[in-house]
Amino acid sequence: MADKSHFENQKVINEEEEKRIEHYSSYHQILLVGEGDFSFSHSFGNASNIVASSLRSYDEVIKMYKNGQSNLEKLKSLGGSILHGVDATKMQRHCDLRTRNFDRIIYNFPHAGFYGSEDNNHLIQMHRNLVESFFGSAKRMLPVDGQIHVTHKTTPPYDLWDLVGLASKHSLFCIECAEFKIENYPGHNNKRGAGSKCDEPFHLGECSTFKFILSYIQETFGREDVDVEFSVRQAIQRGALMFIAETGRPSEDYLKVLDELHFWSRSRILGLKQKLQDLDQRVFEQQRMGYYL
Ligand SMILES: C[S@@+](CC[C@H](N)C(=O)[O-])C[C@H]1O[C@@H](n2cnc3c(N)ncnc32)[C@H](O)[C@@H]1O
Repeated sequence: MADKSHFENQKVINEEEEKRIEHYSSYHQILLVGEGDFSFSHSFGNASNIVASSLRSYDEVIKMYKNGQSNLEKLKSLGGSILHGVDATKMQRHCDLRTRNFDRIIYNFPHAGFYGSEDNNHLIQMHRNLVESFFGSAKRMLPVDGQIHVTHKTTPPYDLWDLVGLASKHSLFCIECAEFKIENYPGHNNKRGAGSKCDEPFHLGECSTFKFILSYIQETFGREDVDVEFSVRQAIQRGALMFIAETGRPSEDYLKVLDELHFWSRSRILGLKQKLQDLDQRVFEQQRMGYYL
């Protein structure tokens, strides 16, 4: 049972004034992946709820980016946690991350490196592999109402990466595609992040933040190794959170939605049963007429 001090601490947390910047709240536990010069989190003011990570080591970051060292120091002074050597494709196994969940996992401008023209099919496939593996790793670190955000260019050839299709392979569904404007994140400098011009910005053009959630129902029925009861419970819980957030109606009303869902599920099952019976009947009649010998 939780003691009194637990509730008092909880009260202090809840009474802390929420700060928001675009899609993010100071109440969210946030993981930033694939950071360049570690400037994105500066827009947040207090960063005690943020873990910012890079693939590159500390030494590489301060060598690659002229503001790397000062940005890291500033981030630390804002209370942020910093991790280096985090591979976005297998971060769920990282020793500092494997026991943690994050409400928002953010990868801004994923990119596998500069190896020629961006419309080269082989290079596009490299970028796609990176993003797909990132999805596969990040989804293991989400709580029930967590979201994965990827900010990406939406014009050709970047649209060919098909983020939404890649995400769906991991039962992740795009719930929103919000226009990204860098001026909404004061202090953030987008970086190429690789090659001799790694510290230079790249042209942004039209970009969006793609937001994904995990469908536990699809996870459940797509895989054999998942505890079905647990996953369905999580799906129902997620539905309740979305229902309350989107409609503003009380949680009791969600029971009506579940009742309706139950009604439609039963109708669907009855419909499918009827179809199976019809099929059996047809096969039986064709056998009788000698079609299957
Ligand atoms: C175009 S840069 C974007 C940097 C930064 N997110 C920004 O918005 O300025 C692409 C970033 O992806 C990182 N990256 C590439 N492969 C990665 C991987 N497997 N795991 C984590 N980061 C990776 C690079 O180190 C680089 O920082």
